[in-house]
Amino acid sequence: MKNDFLTFQAQTTPHPLAVEVASAEGSFIYTTDGKKHLDFVAGVSACGLGHRNPKVLKAVKKQLDKYWHVMVYGEYIQEPSVELAKLLAQFLPKNLQKTYLVNSGTEAIDGAMKLARRATGRSQIFAAKNAYHGNSYGALSLMDYQERTEVFKPLVGNITHIEFNNETCLSQITRSTAAVVLETIQGGAGFIEPQNNYLEKVKNRCKEVGALLILDEIQPGFGRTGKLFGFMHYQVVPDILVIGKGMASGLPIGAFIASAKMMDLLSDKPKLGHITTFGGNPVISSAALATLQELTSTDIIELIPAKEQLFKKLLKHELIKEIRGKGLMLALLFQNAEVANELVLMAKEKQLILFWLLFEKKAVRISPPLTISEEEIHLGCSIIIECLDEINESKTSLIVN
Ligand SMILES: Cc1ncc(COP(=O)(O)O)c(C=O)c1O
Repeated sequence: MKNDFLTFQAQTTPHPLAVEVASAEGSFIYTTDGKKHLDFVAGVSACGLGHRNPKVLKAVKKQLDKYWHVMVYGEYIQEPSVELAKLLAQFLPKNLQKTYLVNSGTEAIDGAMKLARRATGRSQIFAAKNAYHGNSYGALSLMDYQERTEVFKPLVGNITHIEFNNETCLSQITRSTAAVVLETIQGGAGFIEPQNNYLEKVKNRCKEVGALLILDEIQPGFGRTGKLFGFMHYQVVPDILVIGKGMASGLPIGAFIASAKMMDLLSDKPKLGHITTFGGNPVISSAALATLQELTSTDIIELIPAKEQLFKKLLKHELIKEIRGKGLMLALLFQNAEVANELVLMAKEKQLILFWLLFEKKAVRISPPLTISEEEIHLGCSIIIECLDEINESKTSLIVN
């Protein structure tokens, strides 16, 4: 399989982890060599309810028995997508009541960018340095990382970058600005939280000049930080909310949400201003609806701060310089990228799945299923400590510089 994987399937790096998956259940991935791996990554924060959550599975199977795809987004009334949008509105502030369902996070970001330009009649968009919003051209254009963007230029125009958490940049936001796009908690940059009411200050500046605040909750959303959405920690409400990843427990989906007044602009002048074939797909929407019902009717989210504390208590080691992030969106920071790299590879051999972050090379991500048990946290953390002890003992060259 590995040979065919490398030969026929397009790759994203020259050295993929190439874990060969046989099945997955709860917090574990089973590989074709018969091994059971504890998953501390959850499909990069996508499988919030773990793998193959029974309630989500039941909802999907029920929908599969009724209909799969009958029409492009927005023309027919399909119960799962309507119920999903309605339930989302119930848990969101008054200005976030209308949802546009798409297929992925990056697509949702592009939709939000289009909506902001359409709603304001302005074109300038600000994004943060070290932000990650996806890889379609709109979302990629929000990235300031030259190494990743240079060969794909020209990008979408009139996008400028400001430093996350730096208030002095806010005066650059003016009456020419359509929107400021920020991750509520910066993911790829190393799970960096907003400090000193930063998001509130950005929102106030946006209000002053008539610009829109777009918050990318694709990673922190759906309970990962200990609240249903990350912005709920920070006394700020975005004008456009962008979601994805954990929304459908591991099935492909994204959405952008705004006021009805704003969202209705996309349906006229031009008509079909934003369209998608599979957005709002009923099978995927039924998975998202079951996920949201489960997250909002159980204590899964409530238990997250205690699980965060348990990780922080167990992950004490001289090689761990800092643990960043919130809830179950944690990053272990090391003194160099070599230690981080070695930990991911060594843990894989010991049947613990860890992963890197996009821009912060000295970090290792921990973003397990939100349903992870205390016992599983103990097991995974003991493997991490064992790996770090071995790195400490045998690879001193990794930790001297
Ligand atoms: C914060 C953030 N925004 C956008 C995206 C892009 O989402 P997708 O990969 O579903 O297009 C990601 C994916 O990692 C993300 O973490």
